[in-house]
This record gives sequence, C-alpha cells and structure tokens, in this order.
Amino acid sequence: MDSLDNKKDINIEEKTDKKIGNKINKKTVEFSHIYKTFNPGTVNEQDLFTDFNLSLKEDSFNSVVGSNGSGKTTMLNLLCGSIPIDSGDILIDGKNITKMKEHRRSRFIGRVYQDPAMGTCPGLTILENMSLSDNKERKYTLAPGIDKKRVDYFRDELSLLGMGLEDKLQVKVGTLSGGQRQALSLLIATMSPIKLLILDEHTAALDPKSSELVMDLTQRVISEKHITTIMVTHNLKFAVSYGDRLLMMHRGDVVFEASGEDKNNVSIKDLTDRFDEISIEDGNTL
Ligand SMILES: Nc1ncnc2c1ncn2[C@@H]1O[C@H](COP(=O)(O)OP(=O)(O)O)[C@@H](O)[C@H]1O
Ligand SMILES: [Mg+2]
Repeated sequence: MDSLDNKKDINIEEKTDKKIGNKINKKTVEFSHIYKTFNPGTVNEQDLFTDFNLSLKEDSFNSVVGSNGSGKTTMLNLLCGSIPIDSGDILIDGKNITKMKEHRRSRFIGRVYQDPAMGTCPGLTILENMSLSDNKERKYTLAPGIDKKRVDYFRDELSLLGMGLEDKLQVKVGTLSGGQRQALSLLIATMSPIKLLILDEHTAALDPKSSELVMDLTQRVISEKHITTIMVTHNLKFAVSYGDRLLMMHRGDVVFEASGEDKNNVSIKDLTDRFDEISIEDGNTL
C-alpha cells in the first residue's frame, strides 16, 4: 500500500504536478465506489452508502448540509478512519489510505468536533495543550522541553485569533469560553501542516455571536494556510455565505451541489425548499 508517511514522495509528486501545470485540478480527497452497511444481517440493517463517490479539490472549502441521519458524520468518520468501509477506496492526494489506521491518518487530517471539550484538555494550560499537539509527531513530552522560540511561535499563532489568548498561555483551557476553546481547537488542528481539515458542526454548540466569530476565524485560518476543508453544518447561513462549494446530502448520497458562481446564487430559501422536497419524498407532509 502506498504510504503518506513518506514526505519525500509527496514533495516529488507536488513538484511534478506543478511542472505539468495541473495543480489546480489536483484532488485532495477522493471517495471512490464506497459501500457501507450498518448492522448487516440484522433487522436494523441499513445500507447507508451504496457506490458513493465524491472528490474534494485541493484548497477548496466544501460545506455540507443535510437532514439528520443523511450520513454526514459517517462520511467524515470513514475519511478519518474511525469506522471501516465495507468496500471502495479513499484516496488522499492520489494515495490510497483505505487501510491506514486512524492515528496515522491524523498526522495529515485535522478535525474539530461539535463539542468544545473534545479538541483540548481542560486541566492543562493553553501552552501545554499547544506543545502537546506540537509534539504529536515527535516524542510524547510535556512543557519542560519547549524552547523560547516555540513559545513565541505559539504566541504569534494565538494572536491571529484576535481573542487576547496570546497573553493567557498559563491559563487552564477549562476556564475558557466555548468560543475560545473552539478557536484554540481550530488553531491546534491546523498548526502542523495538514492536508485536510474536517469540521463537524464545529459552531453548533456556541452562542450566535461566538459561532460567527469562530466561523470568520475558520475562513481566515484556512485561506491563510491553504487547507482543503470539509465542513458539516446545520447553519444554512454559514453554508451559503462561506466556502466555495455547497453539498446537500440525503440518504447517503449527494443530492444537490453548487460551486463557484452557481454557489453565489444559492439562497437560504433555495436550501430550505430542497429540504422540503426531500421531506415530502420521504412521505412527510408539510
Ligand atoms: N455506528 C453506527 N452504528 C449503526 N448505525 C449507525 C452508526 N453510525 C451511524 N449510523 C446510522 O447511519 C445513519 C447516518 O448517520 P450519521 O452519519 O450520523 O448522519 P448525520 O451526521 O447526517 O446526521 C443514521 O441512520 C444512523 O443511525
Ligand atoms: Mg452528524
């Protein structure tokens, strides 16, 4: 199996791609002929994905909406490797990672969850949380090994957030607000050079003002760092106004998508109308 661990290989591939001038068409993610059935052979058997195919272009910001149970989180779990697929392939930068374990994928896939408590350790300080993540690829050590240069780097990164956290390096993360914790999780998830960022309703647990703030920050971080992103959201306003591609999922399939100029013309009403159509198809009356 091809391995993404070999950074040399990736660099060679990128150079080659640049040389032939098709970097713009490079795909960061490819789901190819994915099948996934839950509880096979039982009364609860559910064929969620049947020949599911989807690609995400390099550097693109993809928003995903869809009704509950449409398969959004499962799609992200398959991508991270937290659940196995039955058949099909998942490629990252053209390399097949289908059989790669979750912890190895986490070296190049960052994820921010809905729950602000998931991305950071509450009992540790901001500095300790950042250095732990910083050391993920090296030895598993805590704060004493951090040199001044690294602390300055953390401080610079934190100041990007515009929340004053750069002056709170010694503050325990558990005392921060939900919005500050999500902002920190986002920063930590993108601090090492990842290829893909996964956001699973990462603003859903926040109050409206904090979610706007974290969303703006998200946009800033991914465009500054050029990270291919897939964001699941229930917030139709965010789905419409952020990102360059919008996908709607239903029963394990993409039932609507728009990108570029077409996406700019999609309104929240267009989306709610689509949701109503889907709901009627499912036998619900309005
Ligand atoms: N681990 C699991 N075991 C059994 N069924 C599951 C599991 N995970 C998800 N499902 C089922 O798959 C469907 C899609 O779930 P999910 O991906 O969480 O949807 P969404 O995130 O779009 O709300 C649901 O019907 C859910 O019950
Ligand atoms: Mg979900």
